[in-house]
Amino acid sequence: MSLRLVPGGRVDDELPGLLVTGAREVVTVAGGPRMGPDQGEVDRRLADRGDPNGAAVACWDGRVLGVGGEADLRTLLPAEGYDLEEFAVLDAAGGSVTPGLVDPHTHLLFAGSREGELELRQQGAGYLEILAAGGGILSTVAATREATTDELAAHGRRWLDEMLGHGVTTVEAKSGYGLDLQTELRLLEVAHRLGAEGPIDIVPTWLGAHAVPPELRGRPDATEAYVRELLEVQLPGVVAQGRAAAADVFCEEGVFSADQSRRILEAAAAYGLRPRLHADELAPSGGAELAAEIGATSADHLATPSEAGIDAMAAAAADGRPVVATLLPVTTWFLMKDHHAPARAFIDRGVPVAIGTDFNPGTSPTASLPLAMTAACLLLRMTPDEVLAAVTINAAQALGLAGEIGSLEGGKQADLVIWNVPTSRQIPYWPAADLVRTVVKRGRVVFARG
Ligand code: NIG
Ligand code: FE
Repeated sequence: MSLRLVPGGRVDDELPGLLVTGAREVVTVAGGPRMGPDQGEVDRRLADRGDPNGAAVACWDGRVLGVGGEADLRTLLPAEGYDLEEFAVLDAAGGSVTPGLVDPHTHLLFAGSREGELELRQQGAGYLEILAAGGGILSTVAATREATTDELAAHGRRWLDEMLGHGVTTVEAKSGYGLDLQTELRLLEVAHRLGAEGPIDIVPTWLGAHAVPPELRGRPDATEAYVRELLEVQLPGVVAQGRAAAADVFCEEGVFSADQSRRILEAAAAYGLRPRLHADELAPSGGAELAAEIGATSADHLATPSEAGIDAMAAAAADGRPVVATLLPVTTWFLMKDHHAPARAFIDRGVPVAIGTDFNPGTSPTASLPLAMTAACLLLRMTPDEVLAAVTINAAQALGLAGEIGSLEGGKQADLVIWNVPTSRQIPYWPAADLVRTVVKRGRVVFARG
């Protein structure tokens, strides 16, 4: 990690306070998860014209105290009993300041790579066809089972480092490349350990139901036998381990049916794991309908939901039980699909939309959430402001953490990014550029580009 002090800024780990000054704008995304016409309301605080000090964020003890003009904060803080001497000052130098980005869907931990499949797909092979032939997820499972725990952790650190450099401060990390109790537990343990190391917070998700493992394939009842193993062996083991916060299922025609997914997610929810699912990624498979029915925290991909599925998710949102539609546009791009998730329909129908990378070695080998933001603008026709809400407060909501992270407002965790551009609207506008100047996690500078 390239951690350097920021020229012109003073960062002092001994001081409990942090004042981020001199921003061209602070985009707070305050006010809770965004849906419908509010999806793109991000609360942009512009520096007053002629005010050389710009907009500012005050933090104390790892939490946000408030956002406002620097002069106002310098008056207000002492009036509230804070000693300005106890604040380090970090100069945003005319950049945009946003909440730390949240990647709500990654398959962070795996071994090996699958560049060969790109060429197979160029020659016309289908994703599930490659899987059925023992490639795809199964080739990553073989490599992951072979990898040592230290190797998996080193791989995780490498990619988390890259995510941090893209402004990401919280990441969801799924298991799902073990498909046996021991390796699934190893993956969840590594995810937990990397989160404890920091600086990025990690939310581990159990995805035992990612594919039927090779040792069961060939049996006529293979999928059902594995579902029983998931319910009777893996789930109790995962619960006893206590690392996973959520459970996920690859609910897709030809993988796990909606009915099998329901059984797994209901059992997991009974143990307190948040239900979420890979829903309708390749074909309408009843995933959106199921997500609405069981009150999943998030339904992910949704590249090909049925009309009934969109209706069900819209009805759930109208009922005050919104399921976050976590859309993953790099995946459909990388799979060379000509059809992408109907983001506009979800927004029009009042469903909160989040965006993630889906970082994985098969369908989305990128750790760049800003690249996924560009894809969301170009392929899903979302506006840059809608996308910013999608990778901050709505992504936090997809992880059940919207009360804690995803916006800059009093009491929330002080996770923020200073960008090298004057407005967050430029984040998706410069594809594949390194636009992050500084990342602050819990009130401390954890990354700075020199
Ligand atoms: O989200 N579709 C299921 N899981 C991943 C891909 C996993 C893989 O191909 O290794 C996804 O696209
Ligand atoms: Fe995925």
